[in-house]
Amino acid sequence: MSSSERLAELHSLLHEHAYRYYVLDAPTIADGEYDRLFQELLAIEREHPEWVTPDSPSQRVGGAVLPAFKQVAHRLPMLSLDNAFNEGEIFDFISRATKFLQYDEKIADIACVVEPKLDGLAVELVYIDGLLAEGATRGDGLVGEEITAQLKTIHDIPLRLRQPLAGRLEARGEVFIGKEGFKRLNRQQEEAGKEAFANPRNAAAGSLRQLDASVTASRPLRFFAYALADPGQFDLSGQTAALAFLKQYGLPVNPLSRPCRDTAEVVAAFDDLAARRDDLPYEIDGMVVKVDDLALQRRLGDKSRSPRWAVAWKFPASQATTILTGVEFQVGRTGAVTPVAVLETVALGGVAVSRASLHNEDEIRRKDLHLGDTVLVQRAGDVIPEIVKVITEKRRKNAEPVRMPTVCPSCQAKLAREQGEAALRCGNPLCPAQRRRQLAHFTSKAGLDIEGLGEKSIDQLMTAGLVAGIADLYRLKPEQLAVLDGWGEKSAANVTTAIEAAKQPSLGRFIAAIGIRHVGEVTALALESHFAGLDELAAAGKDELMAIDGIGAEAAASISDFFARGDGRTLLAELRAAGLVVRLPPVKTAGALSGMTVVFTGSLSRLGRDEAKKLVKEHGGQIASDVTQKVTHVVVGDKAGGKLNKARELGKKIVSEEEFLQLIGR
Ligand code: IVH
Repeated sequence: MSSSERLAELHSLLHEHAYRYYVLDAPTIADGEYDRLFQELLAIEREHPEWVTPDSPSQRVGGAVLPAFKQVAHRLPMLSLDNAFNEGEIFDFISRATKFLQYDEKIADIACVVEPKLDGLAVELVYIDGLLAEGATRGDGLVGEEITAQLKTIHDIPLRLRQPLAGRLEARGEVFIGKEGFKRLNRQQEEAGKEAFANPRNAAAGSLRQLDASVTASRPLRFFAYALADPGQFDLSGQTAALAFLKQYGLPVNPLSRPCRDTAEVVAAFDDLAARRDDLPYEIDGMVVKVDDLALQRRLGDKSRSPRWAVAWKFPASQATTILTGVEFQVGRTGAVTPVAVLETVALGGVAVSRASLHNEDEIRRKDLHLGDTVLVQRAGDVIPEIVKVITEKRRKNAEPVRMPTVCPSCQAKLAREQGEAALRCGNPLCPAQRRRQLAHFTSKAGLDIEGLGEKSIDQLMTAGLVAGIADLYRLKPEQLAVLDGWGEKSAANVTTAIEAAKQPSLGRFIAAIGIRHVGEVTALALESHFAGLDELAAAGKDELMAIDGIGAEAAASISDFFARGDGRTLLAELRAAGLVVRLPPVKTAGALSGMTVVFTGSLSRLGRDEAKKLVKEHGGQIASDVTQKVTHVVVGDKAGGKLNKARELGKKIVSEEEFLQLIGR
């Protein structure tokens, strides 16, 4: 088979497997096998850059950074929906429609399709001759922003339709972030010192509106299609047929969408969806009810901003007012003190709420909170409830403003706020509250995932005086545990076995588990792929750390501090004494650049920066962002500046772009 034939075959294979994985959620090959096919495709495309097509699976990574978003007019306007808030308003919607159609009073029912209303962002996808040609946001409904590159990074969105289709297909749907993805993303944001997103909707919008699509590619965005801009174009009879059509062409359609013969079925479907809401992996804020029949839709037509044939039946608003009775201050594992509002219990969307997150001192000031204030609280899906605002008119005279404490509520150490930081911090490494949270983090899923040691058990062990720090866990004896309240011989044995099993973590897991400030799972993995072992990492200076891709100044300072500090060293020594051994990372496959660390400076003429970096990694080399001792090669492009001088000073090997390409055999 020629390489062009193989490339075509790889396209089909990768498209098919991505479809099975992302759209059907039923993969038929192992991840490793998929990766191998993908690498093979990349290799052929490297040999023949002229063969790279816009629908190649390699095009999902996001390419050049855009200077600005282009405006695109939608060929047909993207309408919005009217809201209904109860059964009565749904009956009104149906009877308005029947009246408009001048139906007989007795046949007041119209068949509808109901769909979960996802809380994300409406987008339009334009396929031309089966290829994804353009994607855009809804914008004001008439003109949106062109975000093709950003949308291509979403694996649910096919780059090519599953069946040939000549001409133009315009599909519409919702881009969203699931509950898990949202939590993970916010954890990453916080670790990176960035502000957390208020809700999945904002996170999805913020992730799509990135001029650098590689940022979008790193976000857990998903997509469901729910409409064709013009179903009549394909002779479809209605919405049920449109959904089937979308599915047939490979676009993901929400499996919970279903036809209803009459209003009674619509009401039943709503109750059913409301009951399942909390168990869904994504947030929904209601159910969309659409008249199924296209002929009826046409006769009903549109109002200025919304169609007469569809309505959004929203879940009861999960906002309510209550009284702020107090504020508690919780100490996190890195010493950050977080205020938590204590509320008079109030029902929000069917859940009793008595606490709300307040984030930090600035937030308290911004909201101007006083004790005893009447506050508006809201809960969006499973996101922690929050205070929207204070109803100032209801404030009592002489109400005390909420103040942050000056000393740690757990150990009474003086609190300090570092420059540029929102958090007030307890700097005492022996603080019991911090220890508690560190231990809980160490055993949690984000850490070494030791089953049976959740926050409650950790609390119990600390109170019983059995553990004060991480290393103590490894000294626990089953007989010490078995006598505790609620424990028995079996659970004690299970937990000590689980602890024993966690004695040989990988470097990345271990680093993530010990909870160094600014170092989360992502940073920990970057460290793992850079260092040969824990000793090498512990010996690295701030500059060397900073030269690693993905590691910023804060994380670098925090890591080198941790290993230089007495308590960091003591922890490592104690853990070793307790028998903990960090597994060494697997030896990397040799490549033309293995053992080399490369820096790029100046503008390259043949390669993009990202492409160049990717090539280094593919050939077994390391990338650095600055010229340090570790660097072996400095690749110099046009208008190279400071780094070139530094390279000369340090006597590094300086190579041109041409020479670099020769090194990797191109
Ligand atoms: S249909 C003319 N279907 O809700 C029909 N919209 O409030 C227009 N949405 O902008 C939209 N799920 O972002 C439709 N199954 C669904 C939907 C849905 C979520 C969003 C969409 C739209 C907004 C209107």
